[in-house]
Order: sequence, then C-alpha cells, then structure tokens
Amino acid sequence: MASSNSSDSSTPAELAAPYGSGPAAASAAASSGTSASGTGGTADGGTGGTAEAARKPAARIRTHHLQAAKVNGERFAMLTAYDQYTAEIFDQAGIEVLLVGDSASNNVFGNETSLPVTVDELLPLCRAVARSARRALVVADLPFGSYEVSTQQAVATGVRFLKEGLAHAVKIEGGKFYAETVRAMVQAGIPVMAHIGFTPQSEHSLGGYRVQGRGDDAQRLIDDAVALADAGAFSVLMEMVPASTAAAVDAAVDVPTVGIGAGSATTGQVLVWQDMAGLRGGKMAKFVKQYADLRTSLSDAAKAYGDDVRSGQFPGPEHSF
Ligand code: KIV
Repeated sequence: MASSNSSDSSTPAELAAPYGSGPAAASAAASSGTSASGTGGTADGGTGGTAEAARKPAARIRTHHLQAAKVNGERFAMLTAYDQYTAEIFDQAGIEVLLVGDSASNNVFGNETSLPVTVDELLPLCRAVARSARRALVVADLPFGSYEVSTQQAVATGVRFLKEGLAHAVKIEGGKFYAETVRAMVQAGIPVMAHIGFTPQSEHSLGGYRVQGRGDDAQRLIDDAVALADAGAFSVLMEMVPASTAAAVDAAVDVPTVGIGAGSATTGQVLVWQDMAGLRGGKMAKFVKQYADLRTSLSDAAKAYGDDVRSGQFPGPEHSF
C-alpha cells in the first residue's frame, strides 16, 4: 500500500514495506537495522536519493489508502498500542493501523473488562501513540459512556480524541442504531471506524463473550454494516463473527473491513498486542495467534536481574563511575 497523498496505485510489495521504498525508507531502515524494501531489495529501492529526501518524514497512511487496499485486493495489519515504545516498534515494523483500544482497560489499567476505562484515562495513551507513530494511521476507541447519550456527545468526544489525543480517526461500537451518530461525526470531520459483531462494551447485554451473526443472525450484521458504511464509516470492524458471515458483510460494503475472530475475508486483521506477543498470561481466545513469548522473556530477565543484585554480581565495575 502506497502511503503518499498523491497516489492510490498500491502494490502488495509496498504493503509489506515499513517506510515505502524511497530514500526516507532507507533512513528509517538504517535506524531500525532492517531492509526498507521489505522484499529483499536495496535499502533505497534502487532509486538513489538525496540526504535531504532521506530526512523527510515517512508518508502517513490515510483512510483512502485502506480503501485502496480493498479495491486492489490487498490486506493491511492493525495492532493495538497504548504507549510510546510499542507504537514506535509496530510503526517501524510496518503495521498500517494502530488502535488505542479501550482494551487498555483490561491490558493496561488492570480492570476485568473494557467498561471502566474513561476518556481522561485513554487520552494520554492516545497522545503517546500518535506522537510516536510516523506512518501508521492512529485510531482511538471511544470508551463506554462517551458517545451513546447523543450525537452531540459523540461529536464532542470524537473532537477531544482528534484534538487532545492527536488521533487520526475514532472507533465506536454498535450496529445500525448508531448510523446517525456516525453521520454526525463524519460531518464534523471525524473519520469513524464502526465496530460490529461482538462488541465488548455491551458484554452484559450480549450475555458474555459470544460469537455473533450465526445462521439467520448474519443478515442483522449485514444490515448493520451497510447502514454504518452508508452513514460514512470509512471501515467496518467485525469481532467474533463466523468467517462466512464476515465474508458476506465484506461483500455487502464498499469500505474495507477489519476482522478479529472473523476469518480471512476481511481487508484488515487486528489483534491486541499483548495477546499477539504473548505478554498476557492465561487462556487465549481461539482467534489469537501468538508470535512471541514476551511473558517468559521478561520474567527470565527480571529473575536474572534479581539474582544478580542479591548475589552482588550487578552492578559490576563496568556499570560504576
Ligand atoms: O479495544 C480493542 O482492543 C478493540 C479490538 C478488540 C478490536 O476494540
């Protein structure tokens, strides 16, 4: 996916390139120690380039790039991020969309569910992520209670996330009932991603963590997605939906869809980063693929440090002034 403002003519190879394939890519890749081409090519993509060009910031992924991905049959990746270092690492790894999820509630703030987290708690996390990501589109979740009361409340909260949180877009949970809310936010200049299927903020009314859109219920999700896309949502995210239903929803809307536990037909996929990287302990949902075991690595590092301190091995002369 090309991440410039000038062109939508993306190629699959560009989707994998953290900083595109030009000189800015070379500079970013040099600092991160990776190949900028993402395809084994030369760091400057064979185009040469000036030092001035190399200092240019990476071009930002915009909602129209995600739209182009759908049109061109490409995929994009989305991960949650809640702080400076994860945002920086995921951005430099080429993740196209970073979500400052209300899952911070149960992955950062120690709550059991996503319900207790507040706007004032999420805003500083969002700012940290937005300041640290040079290329990724940063989407912020509007937390439970911050948009349901009225379209005015939704617009006001959305404005806070773009103005104070420096987010590029927001995400709200809920079906076609929220179409007017989405319309009002989009008219106010707030790009909205709609979240349907299992919506964790409604866990109590949905009767717990349950797959949504099975059998005859599939049509409800299709209707939701069509209404939200018609209202101006730039993307529809589906959580815990049968793969066949998600495919039908994806076919029913022109906007890119994102899945989490929704099969492989969506344009994008999202995971909570602590699940993806194995930081969180306990049982993982069926839809999680773990790509690292950070919990074991961190625990081993902490144990080794503790042992060294207790035995007097740390600090050594090399760590002393
Ligand atoms: O808050 C979050 O992490 C989310 C994802 C589960 C999509 O909404």
